[in-house]
Amino acid sequence: MFKKETIKAYNQEYGIADFIEFNEGAGGFTFVHIKNNHAEAQISLYGGQVTHYQPFGEEPVVWISPLAEFKYGKAIRGGIPICWPWFGPHLYDTKQPQHGVARVSNWSVVNTCILQDQQVKVVLRCDQDVIDQLTEWKGVTLELTIILGRALTLELCTYNHTSVKKSLGGALHSYLFVQDINQAILRGLKTTQYLDKLDNYTTKLQTDDVTLEKETDREYINTKADCFLWDKALNRHVKISKGGSGTTVVWNPWKTTSKQMTDFPDAGYLTMVCVEAAITAQDEYILLPNESHVLSQTISLI
Ligand code: BG6
Repeated sequence: MFKKETIKAYNQEYGIADFIEFNEGAGGFTFVHIKNNHAEAQISLYGGQVTHYQPFGEEPVVWISPLAEFKYGKAIRGGIPICWPWFGPHLYDTKQPQHGVARVSNWSVVNTCILQDQQVKVVLRCDQDVIDQLTEWKGVTLELTIILGRALTLELCTYNHTSVKKSLGGALHSYLFVQDINQAILRGLKTTQYLDKLDNYTTKLQTDDVTLEKETDREYINTKADCFLWDKALNRHVKISKGGSGTTVVWNPWKTTSKQMTDFPDAGYLTMVCVEAAITAQDEYILLPNESHVLSQTISLI
């Protein structure tokens, strides 16, 4: 009952006919459905997570696991998880969740509007109580702006209202759909160095475009480059550009690791790859008092 009232209130305050609607979805979570004349997308207020993005007449652009669990305390497998304020495991506190607290927190709606050319904008804010429980992050606020136009853009803004500098990490951990990983090529990282997480973080050089042939978990360093995912089986190119990030993470769990994840189908690795705009422990951003930082990613079909 309470949930229905909340959804009704959200629709009254922030719904926009034909463009933005709030519904109860999987796991009883509240979702925002947005659409314009180009595409539709869905965002879970749990995690502030895009769970669907599909231009009309196309296959989905983001991948969501058919076994994703929609449960409090568990990250939703797929879409665009928000990793914040750290990437990977917490530096010293093993009780803290992998990839930070934002993807396992509730977010609320701050604003919605329609910009020129039917661009749909939704602004969300991460639960302040959760942030304030992290001693080092108390008083910092986190907002996510999602803009659906011809492309999908996410801007994750961290505001440091405190008098102490912060070491910021995180990622827009985008899971991208491909028809067949064996026929996919990721361009834009050629001649870039990467840390191979599966080989003890050894520094290696990417000599050619990236193809996925085995378990892959790499942090491409010192790169702000656009990436282009060429999906030969679908005969399409997905452009992934970013801002506020010096590292691009490429991840595919491949056969064995897929089987170890309960929320990931055994064959799921054949139809996805993560291309993440990241700020890792190696290149944390020093956020000065009263400063803000925007981590962004734009995904589009070209
Ligand atoms: C990637 C990391 O970003 O996320 C991988 O580089 C990790 O090491 C992967 O396995 C998935 O993480 P999680 O916590 O969502 O299972």
